[in-house]
Amino acid sequence: MPTPVNKPLKIILGVTGGIAAYKIPMLLRLLKKADADVQVIMTPSAERFVTPETLSVLSEKQVLCDFFDPATGMWNNHVDLGLWADAILIAPATATTIGKMVHGIADNLLLATHLSARCPVIIAPAMDLDMYAHESVTENLKTLESRGVHIIPAEDGPLASGLSGPGRLPEPETLFAEFMKIMNPELPLKGKNIMVSAGPTFEPIDPVRFIGNHSSGKMGYAIADAFAKKGANVTLVSGPVSLQTPKNVSRIDVQTAEEMREACLKESTNVDIIVMAAAVADYKVETRAQLKIKKEEDLTLSLVKNPDILQELGKAKTSSQTLIGFALETNNGYDYAKDKVVRKNLDFIVLNSLADEGAGFGHDTNKVYLFDKTGSEKAYPLMSKKMVADIIVKQAISYHFSGNFADI
Ligand code: PMT
Repeated sequence: MPTPVNKPLKIILGVTGGIAAYKIPMLLRLLKKADADVQVIMTPSAERFVTPETLSVLSEKQVLCDFFDPATGMWNNHVDLGLWADAILIAPATATTIGKMVHGIADNLLLATHLSARCPVIIAPAMDLDMYAHESVTENLKTLESRGVHIIPAEDGPLASGLSGPGRLPEPETLFAEFMKIMNPELPLKGKNIMVSAGPTFEPIDPVRFIGNHSSGKMGYAIADAFAKKGANVTLVSGPVSLQTPKNVSRIDVQTAEEMREACLKESTNVDIIVMAAAVADYKVETRAQLKIKKEEDLTLSLVKNPDILQELGKAKTSSQTLIGFALETNNGYDYAKDKVVRKNLDFIVLNSLADEGAGFGHDTNKVYLFDKTGSEKAYPLMSKKMVADIIVKQAISYHFSGNFADI
């Protein structure tokens, strides 16, 4: 018996031209049984595999197949459709539709609606095994995933061609269950308090100048966002950056390492997971000039060490807290990161190295290695900071609840 949808969920069910379209009437029945309001949009070639009449009867609505209604000549407004939907589910999604989605092609009503939509998009690819394994298709799927499209993977089994292998559309019950899981994500961190630090600190020299670094805050903000999406109460202690506060995150702005220390120590007393992604300046000038230093002779600044916030958090860590640090290195990254895990009493550390192209400061991408206090290691390829944040959050959840890395 399907799980009922709490309020009528408005779903665009996109059907594209593959033999697996024969399963869609059953999927549609399950969605309707769960009280969803379903608008079916078919691509022209889908009509060869399942009739609009069948889907119209089951959805209790006219099925849309074209930009213009052939009977009335009325425009089927893809912009309104895209904005109306709470979700777009495309099943089966053929290699052609997937490729066109990647390239922003809008040569049918379904593709144009997809481009206008602001809601989650879920696709269930289905095709013959060699097509599904083809590099162009796997790359296209990766691209869509990196843009936030949810993919319900094809299953392994007998195919219409007579061959057998991965490419089969999952059964309607599985498609329905996967779709509902995506639409009603579990919130494993509901009620948990999380603190994330992000961005640089600026250490003033005089009222005009400061010592800083290149941190944009992107990595830490993506982590705060990913935690909030898991239902946590997230506090973001942020150095000076020009980024928008992620939804459902409360932000404390600081400038200097001392201010960041004060905010972090105050917030940390009641948190379950801490991630220090900020690039805290290790040094500050010993005496800050009250007036602008005039340009005369060469100037020598005397620098003193800033407090190591992470180390202090490690000392104060309680048995129920999970503490995660970052290590930004240019050389000998593995050794330095492993040393920091132990020395700063961390559960695990995220190493990113400026020796890796596309990793570290400023980029939208990062390449990270995780080391935990027991010697376990994980290495990940270069990917978007959003994807890195999702991995760090999944590993933080796994560590918090089971004391181990998850198998991802
Ligand atoms: O902000 P982006 O442009 O997206 O770039 C992301 C990033 C490169 C800043 C981020 O991924 C990162 O590596 N942050 C940590 C940078 C850093 O300061 O590394 P570190 O190896 O010097 O410090 C080790 C750890 O101690 C870090 O968790 C740091 O937050 C913490 N630390 C460092 C110095 C200090 N005085 N107090 C601290 O708490």
